[in-house]
Amino acid sequence: MPGGGVVTVTGTADVSRVEAPVTVKAYLIVAFAAFGGIFFGYDTGWMGGVLGMDYFIKQYTHKEYPDIIFPGDTTSDAYKAYKKGFVIPQWEQSLTTSILSAGTFFGAIIAGDVADFIGRRLTIILGCFIFTVGGILETASTGVGVMSAGRIFAGLGVGFISAIVILYMSEIAPKKVRGAIVAGYQFCITIGILLANCVVYATQKRRDTGSYRIPIAVQFAWALILGTGLAILPESPRYFVKKGKLDKAAKALASVRGQPVDSEYIQDELAEIIANHEYEMSIVPQTSYLGSWMSCFEGKLSQPSSNLRRTILGILMQMMQQLTGINFIFYFGTVFFQQLGTISNPFLISLITTLVNVLSTPFSFVMVEKLGRRRILIWGAASMVTMQFIVGIIGATAGKQSAHNPAAVKAMIAFICLNIASFATTWGPAAWIVIGEIFPLTIRSRGVGLSTASNWFWNCIIAVITPYLVADQPHSAKLGSNVFFMWGGLCCISFLFAFFLVPETKGLSLEQVDKMLEESTPRTSRKWKPHSTFAAQMNLAEKHIEVPIGTETVESKTAQEV
Ligand code: BGC
Repeated sequence: MPGGGVVTVTGTADVSRVEAPVTVKAYLIVAFAAFGGIFFGYDTGWMGGVLGMDYFIKQYTHKEYPDIIFPGDTTSDAYKAYKKGFVIPQWEQSLTTSILSAGTFFGAIIAGDVADFIGRRLTIILGCFIFTVGGILETASTGVGVMSAGRIFAGLGVGFISAIVILYMSEIAPKKVRGAIVAGYQFCITIGILLANCVVYATQKRRDTGSYRIPIAVQFAWALILGTGLAILPESPRYFVKKGKLDKAAKALASVRGQPVDSEYIQDELAEIIANHEYEMSIVPQTSYLGSWMSCFEGKLSQPSSNLRRTILGILMQMMQQLTGINFIFYFGTVFFQQLGTISNPFLISLITTLVNVLSTPFSFVMVEKLGRRRILIWGAASMVTMQFIVGIIGATAGKQSAHNPAAVKAMIAFICLNIASFATTWGPAAWIVIGEIFPLTIRSRGVGLSTASNWFWNCIIAVITPYLVADQPHSAKLGSNVFFMWGGLCCISFLFAFFLVPETKGLSLEQVDKMLEESTPRTSRKWKPHSTFAAQMNLAEKHIEVPIGTETVESKTAQEV
């Protein structure tokens, strides 16, 4: 409403009116944020390839190229011995790889706070900026010190982006397609991993700084696109409600729904968000900064709607996603397949696995809305248990009988690909969707931040321990293909976790999820139907909240003050 004015927000008791209808433009706004997934995927994808590049190794170790020392000789024992030592030392590999996870872990936790302070949108833009600083250091680096500093900054930025994009998307997406849209974020993660593999493949043979600088510098494009796009997109209306800036909330909601600010639909939806926030505040009041952190852990563990239970659910959800073992395949698949023999081109292997990941993810867009989050998590875990046990059994039987048995290796690759497709259509997207949906507004940003930090923590643990499980090294457990029995066993736990603890959130507004958690258990949640509104419960349906719409921000009164 240009020129200012007042919009009266009246709540509704009609459960079908708690969300305004949405235009195509509004869908596009929401879908754009999914682009943030590219950072996540690309940044986890390039480091492994760069660490194996000849130029990079030469620059770091100051050793001459093997083919210069042994011209025309690639078969002698001396060449092979030299080549074996022509690698970045193990501790430097670990440091540069895992330091990113340290950055992302802290980035995700800090970002939750920042998003409540400066808003979701600005936090993501800040994340892009921090990431760019990290990228500049990484690109400029010629030694482990500057590279590690760059990795910390880049990690902090990725932590900011990976947590807050989920928060932002969940808060602005229309309830009917919220799952599909957040699954779009997972799709972007998979594209990021694929792109990183392709760029690294294209530059790996270069014998100049372009070999590693090009893959690193490509990331600036992601930061520019996401940062610029978000500068134009509207803020989350739920953030403004949390801040008590109801006028801005009304404008932002009108913008994300593509409706006029004074439309009745916008009033009803805004009233519902306000009433829900007030309800949550009345249950767990947030007094101080520390108190607001403590409120993430308030309530009884046995009560599905308590903050404690939701925080634990989010943290465990991301932990279990990592413990499905998916990153074992992405981080270590190449080495694993090489050990099995018969396939010698590592790029081909990673291309197959990353392509299966990309191509199967879009099926989740439909599955997550038709079957629901809970069901796909349960069936996804069951499917992964089956695939991984089959891989383990083939490895322990046919694979063992004759070394490098091509039929057995091909069968194992086929089942590993089916395992990736099971993950990509279920746990990959659903873990992100669920953490964006289960928290009440009062603790949502911190809850999503803590859950995302858990994802990065376990991601790091897996990256660090995996080589010691399978590699052919002196101190390794040398599990070989038996490692799939371990991942399959962990997927059994994921199955039980989904069955007993994950509620169904499909088709509900974030406020209705709150009610559902209060009135049902995870196992009865699928049958729960909305029957009342928070506006009616908080008597907002009979009250009018005047929201000043003008050029200046007016700190609005809360509904209870009106
Ligand atoms: C996971 C990542 C994983 C990726 C694979 C994401 O949801 O969090 O750790 O590498 O999916 O597509």
